[in-house]
Amino acid sequence: MRLRKFDDMHLHLRQGEMLKLVLPYTLSQCARALVMPNTSPAVLTASDLTNYRSEILQAAGSAKAGFEPLMTFKITPACDSSSIASLKSAGAIAGKLYPDGVTTNSEGGVRDFRALFPVYEAMQEAGLVLCLHGELPGAFSLDREEKFLEVLQEIAARFTRLKIVLEHVTTAAAVACVSALPANVAATITLHHLYITLDDLLGDKLNPHNFCKPVAKRPEDREALIKAATSGSAKFFFGSDSAPHSIEAKECACGAAGVYSAPVLAPLLKQLFDDVGSDQLENFVSRFGADFYGLPVNQDFIELKEEEWLVPEVLDGIKPFMAGSRLRWRLV
Ligand code: DOR
Ligand code: ZN
Repeated sequence: MRLRKFDDMHLHLRQGEMLKLVLPYTLSQCARALVMPNTSPAVLTASDLTNYRSEILQAAGSAKAGFEPLMTFKITPACDSSSIASLKSAGAIAGKLYPDGVTTNSEGGVRDFRALFPVYEAMQEAGLVLCLHGELPGAFSLDREEKFLEVLQEIAARFTRLKIVLEHVTTAAAVACVSALPANVAATITLHHLYITLDDLLGDKLNPHNFCKPVAKRPEDREALIKAATSGSAKFFFGSDSAPHSIEAKECACGAAGVYSAPVLAPLLKQLFDDVGSDQLENFVSRFGADFYGLPVNQDFIELKEEEWLVPEVLDGIKPFMAGSRLRWRLV
């Protein structure tokens, strides 16, 4: 069966060797991807952004013609509203705000969300999207997302023309909050949060490959995410948050947060929407995100075959999501 290519509206591609290893999986399924700026060093300036885009396109090689990296910059406490115009000129379409210490490469991140009002203002005027990692630093880990919702509501109330995306929502509370806010506020939903709950991380033996931020929550939260993704609300669209880390970085005493889902996106999303009986897959993965960002719908297609596919245990030293599972669909 033919499927329109996805827009992955939240993706970690990394740099260097890792970028070269993981990018082909995105190229094979996605026409565009919103590339996260929490690289090391981070994407902070217009020249960082230009260099990172070049590195991505170079890694894409001959496939680059069929792929558009959508670029972002990292909003830190030092971010100055005067830098927004040059970031936009360099091609940024969004800025990503990382609260302090809540996830990979977020050290020294934001604690005073109000101090950045001038930055949000400049972004609103420039038509840039504000992407929020929605977790409140210092709160109990399972409550971090819910406690952040007040911050979201305050920013949305003050900047009524600013497009805001609450990234990778994991709770029924976040779904309800985003649903109740005006149309300029949307949310991304990952593949893995549609499949796993906290039990898949630590209910039995510890499985560090299902450890990500925000951490997967309760079964009823997962149900709310499935409903939001499959029911055809334009406020919820796909962002994989595929976040590769080496096996060594995951299976250790200080394991990194991140689920590497890029290799299995299309087969697993097709399976989930089929199981739910939803015809909204194309809207979720290829239309609502593009509409929100003001992009034309992509015109590329992939082919899926209904044929059992065993997800490899390891791909280039990284464990993919659902490693070792048998899936119903495979990418042709
Ligand atoms: O689990 C995560 N991993 N969540 C994030 O927000 C960042 C990501 C990463 O960069 O590894
Ligand atoms: Zn992310």
